[in-house]
Amino acid sequence: MASSNATPQGATIFELNNGQKVPALGFGAMKKGGGTFPASERDYVKSLIAQAINAGYRTIDTSRLYQTEDLVGQALRETSIPREEFTIITKLAPSDTHDVRGAFERSRALLGTYIDIYIMHWPQGFDKDDPSRPLDPGESPTYIEVYKKMQELVGPECGGIGVGNFTIRTLEPLLNDPGVYVVPVVNEIEIQPRNPNLKLVPYCLENGIRPIAWGPLAGGISSQYTNTTTIYDDPLFKALSSKYDLSAGTVILSWLVQRGVIVVPHSSSPTRLAQNRQLAELTEDEMQELNSFHEKAGRQRVTDEAFFDFGWKDTPGKGRTFMGWSVVDLGWEDEEGNWLT
Ligand SMILES: NC(=O)c1ccc[n+]([C@@H]2O[C@H](COP(=O)([O-])OP(=O)(O)OC[C@H]3O[C@@H](n4cnc5c(N)ncnc54)[C@H](OP(=O)(O)O)[C@@H]3O)[C@@H](O)[C@H]2O)c1
Repeated sequence: MASSNATPQGATIFELNNGQKVPALGFGAMKKGGGTFPASERDYVKSLIAQAINAGYRTIDTSRLYQTEDLVGQALRETSIPREEFTIITKLAPSDTHDVRGAFERSRALLGTYIDIYIMHWPQGFDKDDPSRPLDPGESPTYIEVYKKMQELVGPECGGIGVGNFTIRTLEPLLNDPGVYVVPVVNEIEIQPRNPNLKLVPYCLENGIRPIAWGPLAGGISSQYTNTTTIYDDPLFKALSSKYDLSAGTVILSWLVQRGVIVVPHSSSPTRLAQNRQLAELTEDEMQELNSFHEKAGRQRVTDEAFFDFGWKDTPGKGRTFMGWSVVDLGWEDEEGNWLT
């Protein structure tokens, strides 16, 4: 399946709860800087996707919000690699939760092919008649109602369904709902060294849900999200880079895949695309050191950073909310501010 230029770890294949087999090392098809980019850059962005395919990547993560579904579709048609070798992931946007079937069909048309994994991008949705108003957690269509509609999609055009940015708080009611008969195959969440999700990753794995790490490199050395020198200049990453003769970024990807997590890093560089496939097998002690890195570096969600200001607001009666939900509603923290993930 994956091409031979990867190390055995880089060629890891995970089996999902429905039997789908997915290369653990994927490519994030979001252009650096986010979803909106000028039409003049579309050929360039398509060339990045083609470059990743040529470098051996077979899992491709896109979404309506990244505006790259059509470009992924074009790249798939232009390669001689058979379609069935790929796992194509795309997502239901929060603004489309009132029209699950319609949104799925639009994505499928843009891709020009079936969708391997269709993810609810966030648990939040927006008002059908006022697209600027986020729905409250209990307001219909709730994420459970939306997920039930997604279940009806599974079939020849949709290999599996999953969720994104879910936590134990949002997953538990979903998994316990009597009308939910399809366990999500994946949960795509922010996981990076300063937000390692030491509780949520095992919870997902124990429940048969494969975690996917978005932003696994915290945006890399010149991150659009945050200052990442705390990670990339840290003696731990420098020592492991030197021991395995890998970049610090590749050490991070090794740590994640070894935890059972699919990773979807983005890169515009052919050199880094190739290097990132040379994953190492880390020792148990090194895994533990990386798991506890956030204790000395400090916990940090990139989602809290200014890059995501489009979603953060002060909501009367609720405090700070992201797309209408507080960090408690999202299950990121409890009422006292303790991290729950
Ligand atoms: N579900 C969600 O809510 C959500 C949110 C955000 C993102 N995502 C997904 O996650 C994917 C990846 O996220 P992201 O691009 O934001 O963050 P990322 O993958 O953590 O960082 C990408 C950046 O890291 C650099 N990089 C690549 N390899 C590196 C290495 N070995 N060492 C250091 N830096 C390296 C790249 O620079 P060069 O181009 O110079 O190599 C690129 O700018 C997106 O494409 C998207 O598919 C999902």
